[in-house]
Amino acid sequence: MTILSPEQRRSYEADGVLVLPNFYSLDEIAKLRTRMTELVAEFDPAEATTTFSTTDEQSRDEYFLNSGDKIRFFFEEDAVDAHGNVVVPMDEALNKVGHAMHDLDPIFSDFSRKPKLAELATEVGFSDPRLLQSMYIFKQPRIGGEVVWHTDHPFLWTEPRSVTGFWVALEDATKDNGCLWCLPGRQNLAPKERFRRDGQGGTYLETLDDSPFPTAEGVPLECEAGSLVVINGLLPHWSAPNTSSKSRHAYTLHIIEGSAEYPDDNWLQRDKALPLRGF
Ligand code: FE2
Repeated sequence: MTILSPEQRRSYEADGVLVLPNFYSLDEIAKLRTRMTELVAEFDPAEATTTFSTTDEQSRDEYFLNSGDKIRFFFEEDAVDAHGNVVVPMDEALNKVGHAMHDLDPIFSDFSRKPKLAELATEVGFSDPRLLQSMYIFKQPRIGGEVVWHTDHPFLWTEPRSVTGFWVALEDATKDNGCLWCLPGRQNLAPKERFRRDGQGGTYLETLDDSPFPTAEGVPLECEAGSLVVINGLLPHWSAPNTSSKSRHAYTLHIIEGSAEYPDDNWLQRDKALPLRGF
């Protein structure tokens, strides 16, 4: 099985990004979405909403920092009030779910470990790929927030750099509902920041280079449900708020190289009992 044509390989090499339409079938997509609907129905919002109290910054940090080996639910800022009440319907309240569904849930594991994805990882250069992080992103109608320009390597740092993002459109992504934008060919810029644990239960964003990204070059990546977007860990990308009446669900997997060193002060840490696995 070969996934990429020579032309697609060249294109990914040059641009740091590649859109593969119809990578997943609509049946495969539907199965994942149904499973997420079930997980949301089983979830007790109180587990997460208490962290919205303004006096409870610490538990909010803790809820996030301990999610690397769990399935945790993150609300949109505007969906929960200061007393922890969810003020919009539950199916429109969540920002994302993360960060280890790919290891803890059989349906997510199956979706994340299809042989075609393993083959693709090999074709984009991995020799010992490890599935580090999964996220289900809702990008809710009207309240789905912006994700500012960034690259992924600063958040999932390895030595040498290895992280690559696999972003799957679970619904059609358009400029109206907040599709990804990126700066093709800018994956060769040095990292501008690094997100680290501070050793005291918090995190900080270290600035390595304060020059801005050349965002005027931004290109929208509109694509249909089932498309997979491969994103180099240093490719700048962004998504706008969703001001439309349609959601824009997406599933992302971030993969690193098994032989790369994974620092202890990266935000995402996992219990030793749940070691990183490959395909
Ligand atoms: Fe990203």
